[in-house]
Amino acid sequence: MSVRVVLGAQWGDEGKAKVVDYLTAQADVVVRFQGGANAGHTIKAGDLEFIFHLIPAGIVHQDKSCVIGNGVVLDPAALFKEIEDLDARGISVAGRLFIGQNTHLVMPYHKRLEQANEERIGAGAIGTTLRGIGPAYVDKINRSTGIRVGDLLDAEVLPEKIRANIREKNEILTRIYGVEGLEEAPVIEHHMALGERLAPFVTDTSVYLNEAIDNGKNILFEGSQGALLDIDHGTYPYVTSSNTTAGGACTGSGVGPTKIDEVIGVVKAYTTRVGNGPFPTELNDEVGQRIRDIGHEYGATTGRPRRCGWLDAVIVRMAARVNGLSSMAVTRLDILDELESLNICTHYISKGKRLDHFPGNLKILEGCEPVYETCPGWQTPTSGVRRWDDLPDNAKRYLDRISELTRTPISLVSVGPDREETIVIE
Ligand code: IMO
Ligand code: MG
Repeated sequence: MSVRVVLGAQWGDEGKAKVVDYLTAQADVVVRFQGGANAGHTIKAGDLEFIFHLIPAGIVHQDKSCVIGNGVVLDPAALFKEIEDLDARGISVAGRLFIGQNTHLVMPYHKRLEQANEERIGAGAIGTTLRGIGPAYVDKINRSTGIRVGDLLDAEVLPEKIRANIREKNEILTRIYGVEGLEEAPVIEHHMALGERLAPFVTDTSVYLNEAIDNGKNILFEGSQGALLDIDHGTYPYVTSSNTTAGGACTGSGVGPTKIDEVIGVVKAYTTRVGNGPFPTELNDEVGQRIRDIGHEYGATTGRPRRCGWLDAVIVRMAARVNGLSSMAVTRLDILDELESLNICTHYISKGKRLDHFPGNLKILEGCEPVYETCPGWQTPTSGVRRWDDLPDNAKRYLDRISELTRTPISLVSVGPDREETIVIE
């Protein structure tokens, strides 16, 4: 029996889905525990490519079960779109997708509020994915306004909850933001229908998962976003609205911390960020553009170009600390194959002083200068490599140095999007 957590150790888009897809072979149940359709999890299986936003990437393995836990904020319309897309490709989720009864919903007014708020802030906006994530978590924490999956199935409760919300949100939309509100009747009708469709998937996912663990099943948690986007530990306020770090796997699923055996942090071999906020090792030059071009660094959810930069050991050290990482999976090594030399940020200088720990204060972070160590490139293709020993020496040196600087062993290296393009380190 093993319970493993896979999560992002940077600003998201680390290649978590590729690692999850690879490890799903050894799992029985794959679990999403936070975030929502802001995630864009791409996997490649032979000629087929899938992009998941809500359903765990493990669903492509037709003998595995998948759980959307209580920590997720679920957009039911986005979920059914994904289910239909999977059906069209011959993958049925029936009987093997389970959704928590206490999972909160993303409603149409959440998206409208988010759009209006981002537009109002203008230049200092967070640069969210506009999937309604933040406003949905606001209602969850607010308690009196949140709507959960269980409510969606309750024909008595649901209309009243939607009505009360729309009344309140329309006041905010029209009076504060000066934008149009929503009509109650169509939203109620649409969601009553969605509830009927959702009912077969709904269960107490905490009971389901703990029984699975008691029966010796292997569980794999699939994180979304990354440590630097964590609501508590990330570059606040330029973060997402959930705990993307290891504790979130427990609170977002109802599985206790003593049940978790392993936490694997996914680290891209360089750094990217999409959306606004500080990024000390960002490359606003031709090297950054080269990495973006070779790596096709454009968002899987929004299509935005990702900001690219050197690997930052300071942020990965923070991720290792906050998550208690057992090991790292380093992805996209092959994207760096052509470079003549590579930089790794070892620490920052702030007002003349050395900083080894990631500063929690945004103002300090914005004033930090990254200090680099230069490593020679390997200028050899690595996509065909399947064993650590067969990697070019300079690639091994680069990886060893990352491991040393973050005091975390590397358990897996990915050298391409395909399942087979994976090096496992014993
Ligand atoms: P995966 O799981 C990268 C970023 C957004 C924005 C901030 C807040 O594919 O790694 P939100 O819509 O969550 O309120 O946006 O977080 N963001 C991501 N960046 N990968 C993701 O997910 C992200 N999900 C959200 O760009 O900066
Ligand atoms: Mg992504």
